Amino acid sequence: MAYTSSKQKAAKADSSPQGMWSSRWLFVLAAAGSAVGLGNIWKFPYIAGENGGGAFVVVYLGCVLLMGIPIMVAEVMLGRAGRGSPVHAMRNLAGAAKASDFWQLVGWLGIGAGFLILSYYSVIAGWALFYIWQMASGVLDAATPEFANNLFNTFLGNPLQLMFWHTLFMVLVVWIVSKGVVKGLETAIRWFMPLLFVLLIILLGYSAQSGGFEQGFNFMFGFDWSVMKLDGFLVALGQAFFTLSLAMGAIMAYGAYVPKDTSIFSTITTVALIDTSVAIAAGLAIFPIVFANGLDPASGPGLMFVTVPLAFGQMEMGVIFGTLFFLLVSFAAITSAISLLEPLLAYLVEEYNAKRARVATSMGVICWILGVGSVLSFNLWSDVHVAGDLTFFAFVDYVTQNIMLPLGGVLIAVFVAYVLPKSIVAEQLGLNGGVKELVWNVLIKLVAPLGVLAVFIYTLYITLYLPYLA
Ligand code: PHE
Repeated sequence: MAYTSSKQKAAKADSSPQGMWSSRWLFVLAAAGSAVGLGNIWKFPYIAGENGGGAFVVVYLGCVLLMGIPIMVAEVMLGRAGRGSPVHAMRNLAGAAKASDFWQLVGWLGIGAGFLILSYYSVIAGWALFYIWQMASGVLDAATPEFANNLFNTFLGNPLQLMFWHTLFMVLVVWIVSKGVVKGLETAIRWFMPLLFVLLIILLGYSAQSGGFEQGFNFMFGFDWSVMKLDGFLVALGQAFFTLSLAMGAIMAYGAYVPKDTSIFSTITTVALIDTSVAIAAGLAIFPIVFANGLDPASGPGLMFVTVPLAFGQMEMGVIFGTLFFLLVSFAAITSAISLLEPLLAYLVEEYNAKRARVATSMGVICWILGVGSVLSFNLWSDVHVAGDLTFFAFVDYVTQNIMLPLGGVLIAVFVAYVLPKSIVAEQLGLNGGVKELVWNVLIKLVAPLGVLAVFIYTLYITLYLPYLA
């Protein structure tokens, strides 16, 4: 963030105590940097694979459009209107609405979920760092599917190695965040995001002629409703929230740094479009390779780490492109990780007037320790089940994605739709009657809260009443 204003100035002007984005475009880049990450390239293909493909993709797109975008708009608005960390913004706005202090909970849920997610996000991002190194060394050159599989499984089985890369990633994140992010990150996002897109297209080009394209395409876009289980809705909604960085305080925290004259609707639509395109491109690039090599689309978290090295390993100049690919994935992960830490950081800095670097370091250490639980979930603790059949990693993922995020989402929608004074909403969003306002009202008052609530209740039902976790 560009620290363009001091606290004193912030108190007078309409700006955040942490500073402001230097332009509307930089906000789009930062929000896209937060949204585009492991969720798009690593998670989306593998959960689409586990949930049967096509029908899941349709449900996911529906969730992004009908619930994701409205809640994202709401979050940015809350951040901007409240001008503070998620907890402070919610406190300020609850005050303005003369509503209960309970609404702070939205901020706390976000901060908590973001922190928990960062703990395992760093572990997976560490895998991407490891693969930069592997691709560059050329060991995956002309590798067979067995070799790629083995390499990944051996890596997962080695806690010390996982720990090393997890540590490296966390150190990088803390280092960047302590610096205050500013120009370095902004410039980097400006260059790396388009480059990531280009590499995805190269990968797509390869997968198009890999022999499995038709099958891969059909898998992603063939609407076979019979394979879509009710659980798929839950996963799809969770993924829509995760990939758009919603209900984790990240977007609200970034919203606090958005200049007053920026149109929230148009910027957020752009961000959602970028995010969705990257996810779809990643899926379209990965599945054909899966089918061409006789791999299993439902093979879980390792999907990207086996298919992508395999593809680059068979490509001309694959060493260079493959290395670059994992470099960009790691970068995308860093820009997301930063936004996972920012809400907590902003809270502590604002509440206690603490030093950014010191807070970033101490929180990084705690988060790192939590992450060790996820590291061990893939090896020494793979048989240790925290709840039901969930390992520590799966448990943190489950609780954040299926419980904290939907809960936060419903509360955000309800607060904006029914608690926040209409005048604030109208001013923030530039509403003045017309179709735009009508569509917005229908989505934020009905579709988004009821949709998320339905999924949430279903989650609670299967969690508490079905032997899902038992
Ligand atoms: N949206 C990021 C991704 O898809 C993850 C993330 C979630 C980042 C929440 C920030 C906040 O990888």
